[in-house]
Amino acid sequence: MLQGDGIGPEIMDSSTRILNVLNENFGLKLEPVSYDIGAKSVASEKWNLPRILDEARKFKAILKAPMGDPSIVEESGTETALSIILGLRFDLDLFANVRPVRLLPGVSSVLKGFDKEGAIDYTIIRENSEGLYSSHFGGLVLKDDIAVDNQIITRKGTERISRFALDLSMRSEGSPADGKKIVTCVDKANVLKSFAFFRKIFREVAKAYPEVETRYMYADAMTQYMLFHPQNLNVIVTENMFGDVLSDLAAATVGGLGFAYSANLSHERGMFEPVHGSAVDIAGKGIANPIAMILSTLMMIDWLGEGKYQEVVEKALFTAISKGARTPDMGGTLTTDEFTDAVLNELRKK
Ligand code: NAD
Ligand code: IPM
Ligand code: MN
Repeated sequence: MLQGDGIGPEIMDSSTRILNVLNENFGLKLEPVSYDIGAKSVASEKWNLPRILDEARKFKAILKAPMGDPSIVEESGTETALSIILGLRFDLDLFANVRPVRLLPGVSSVLKGFDKEGAIDYTIIRENSEGLYSSHFGGLVLKDDIAVDNQIITRKGTERISRFALDLSMRSEGSPADGKKIVTCVDKANVLKSFAFFRKIFREVAKAYPEVETRYMYADAMTQYMLFHPQNLNVIVTENMFGDVLSDLAAATVGGLGFAYSANLSHERGMFEPVHGSAVDIAGKGIANPIAMILSTLMMIDWLGEGKYQEVVEKALFTAISKGARTPDMGGTLTTDEFTDAVLNELRKK
């Protein structure tokens, strides 16, 4: 458990409390180890980046709270904490960033006509090991005149993320509109050779999946599609930075960033975290929405093969929401702690 920065420790506390109840009352056997790792820790002797990576390699699953402090930056101006986040993703080769976009029961969308549970239910598969962000540990600024970051797209990286997205679609219920299993490849193949290559490789891999319909859309057009026709989406596969930007937009259609959870996966390891950041504007006020952190925790439990616990907590969470539990971002007045109390009250009744 990485406590992170800003609202990180506040929402991680909700996860800890839920895990404690699952361990004590429901027979879950997880022994989380907590680390105070975030923006400040990278500079310290104890938790510099190589040490963090060495420690992380000892674990199969990592639960990560948001990290980042916009005031703690490198000489280049990039944020110090970003090297921890991207370092973990790259070093552990967590190539698939799985970002479900799901309208939960009792939550209304800002989009007109999308009021029922499951009316929006798709997954963004963000390539997580290359793309433009792989330049984070490279890139250069020459003589204060020229800045260069390179986008890396490889055959291996594109094949494995394509397969991941197609497999996920095969196992899914399809799009809410008509149950069709569809993977939409999102890129700018019209502009950059690297994206045309991404699309070509995806097309090649998809030939082995006749049951899955393949669609193609440019990233700019996808932003409109996600607002007008989200019911037609099932799985999106896309490059790292596009996946980053599209997932915040997607979150806004299902209640906001407080609802956006994710997994960073390799075939051996998983790191689970909210899509949102450390929300420095509300940090310390105790009013952060812990749902994305809780759902990330449940995704971890499910991935560890303990799906029954995921179900029981989800039910408690949905019941609490249906009875009116809401943090300020949801239009309510509950603090993070009070919201967590409401979920735990329901959980203890199970
Ligand atoms: P952010 O996601 O932290 O916040 C954007 C807006 O959403 C803010 O108004 C915030 O208050 C609100 N918000 C986010 N999560 C919320 C929650 N759970 N409950 C209620 N409101 C919530 O994005 P930002 O402000 O651009 O970034 C802040 C810091 O987080 C930066 O240092 C950034 O680099 C970092 N960051 C880290 C991660 C990560 O750890 N994976 C992800 C994104 C941003
Ligand atoms: C995210 C974040 C991260 C990203 C940053 C903080 C490294 O925005 O997880 O969506 O860009 O991937
Ligand atoms: Mn992001």
